[in-house]
Amino acid sequence: MKKVKVGIIGCGNISSIYFEAGSKFDIIEIAACADLDLAKAKEQAEQFGVPKACTVDELLADPDIEIVVNLTIPHAHAEIHMRALQAGKHTYGEKPLAVTMEDGERILALAKEKNLLVGSAPDTFLGGGIQTCRKLIDDGWIGKPIAATAFMMGSGPESWHPNPGFLYEVGAGPMFDMGPYYLTALINLIGPVRRVSGSAQMTYPERTITNDIDYGKKIPVEVPTHIAGTLDFENGAVGTIITSVDVWGSKLPHLEIYGSKGTLVVPDPNTFDGPVYVKRHNQSEFMAMPLTHGFTQNSRGLGLMDMAYAIRNGREHRASGEMAYHVLELMHGFHLSSEQGVHYAVASSCKQPAALSADLPRNGLDG
Ligand SMILES: NC(=O)c1ccc[n+]([C@@H]2O[C@H](COP(=O)([O-])OP(=O)(O)OC[C@H]3O[C@@H](n4cnc5c(N)ncnc54)[C@H](O)[C@@H]3O)[C@@H](O)[C@H]2O)c1
Repeated sequence: MKKVKVGIIGCGNISSIYFEAGSKFDIIEIAACADLDLAKAKEQAEQFGVPKACTVDELLADPDIEIVVNLTIPHAHAEIHMRALQAGKHTYGEKPLAVTMEDGERILALAKEKNLLVGSAPDTFLGGGIQTCRKLIDDGWIGKPIAATAFMMGSGPESWHPNPGFLYEVGAGPMFDMGPYYLTALINLIGPVRRVSGSAQMTYPERTITNDIDYGKKIPVEVPTHIAGTLDFENGAVGTIITSVDVWGSKLPHLEIYGSKGTLVVPDPNTFDGPVYVKRHNQSEFMAMPLTHGFTQNSRGLGLMDMAYAIRNGREHRASGEMAYHVLELMHGFHLSSEQGVHYAVASSCKQPAALSADLPRNGLDG
């Protein structure tokens, strides 16, 4: 199969794992990379053997590049997605799809008009852990899902991220930065959501960086940092979510799905691995379940690979723009519900992505 040539825009902290994906999967070839800071693009190109480091304009003008991979900060996501589509390229980006719903809509509309694909992280739901959970649900191990819980509880990225300022700007915060992992996993396991409610607070107006680079520096907070929400799924299940960077510790589970015939403990949706546990109605203990699917290592880029196969084989891709837009609307919905004191009725929907086969080649997705 002819490789799909990819150009990466944004060569910061997360980019290395995407550059590595270029050598892990046969379907893509990373042909160029760009950054506002050309030195960063050159550094990554040299480290990962990418033939061209260039400006964003040069990358977008390269006729060989079919997919632009957008690894910029959230505020730049919409602009880069739109420019990539205008240049006739498919586009795949880090989460969130965009900061505002209006920008998300514009991206999907332009892609439709140009007959191009939009894809978005997270793609951890394609990993062995969550695909095993999906198979267990599809095979009826817990019966019909009737409820779910999702808890992302921590003390914030300012202790480890080299550039944590943007993670407290509008478009980030715990819901927009971490919520996509949990919400995408829930949509993959249960389906789309019709209504949400939320209570959100900004607990501290500023945070103190404790990484090695800027230790002691204060950063302003623009967004809620503790958000508690509920979700009514289209299939009738009810979910509870908390995303917080205001707690020093928690023993709450990451994700659990409660079915009519049992309970499923889902692994951390920010990872690709297990463990997975099930307790059926007629059992007294939880059982550790063997993983049925591969890609259990850090396989960021899987969603991009899936999109590359989708382009070559003319099928739908799983980490889709439609699902990312639905997630974006849910995240806004929690905040809007809190501000307005009412439930938020969700206007968008999306298809539950197709489950992956348990029998795939080591470095491919389409058999
Ligand atoms: N760091 C992580 O662990 C992590 C994990 C998962 C997802 N993400 C997501 O990946 C994205 C990037 O995060 P990061 O941690 O790599 O950030 P970063 O700040 O380390 O890197 C972002 C890079 O994008 C470049 N950039 C910004 N605007 C640009 C523009 N308009 N044109 C070209 N380049 C531009 C910056 O110069 C920088 O090099 C974010 O959406 C984040 O949510 C990060």
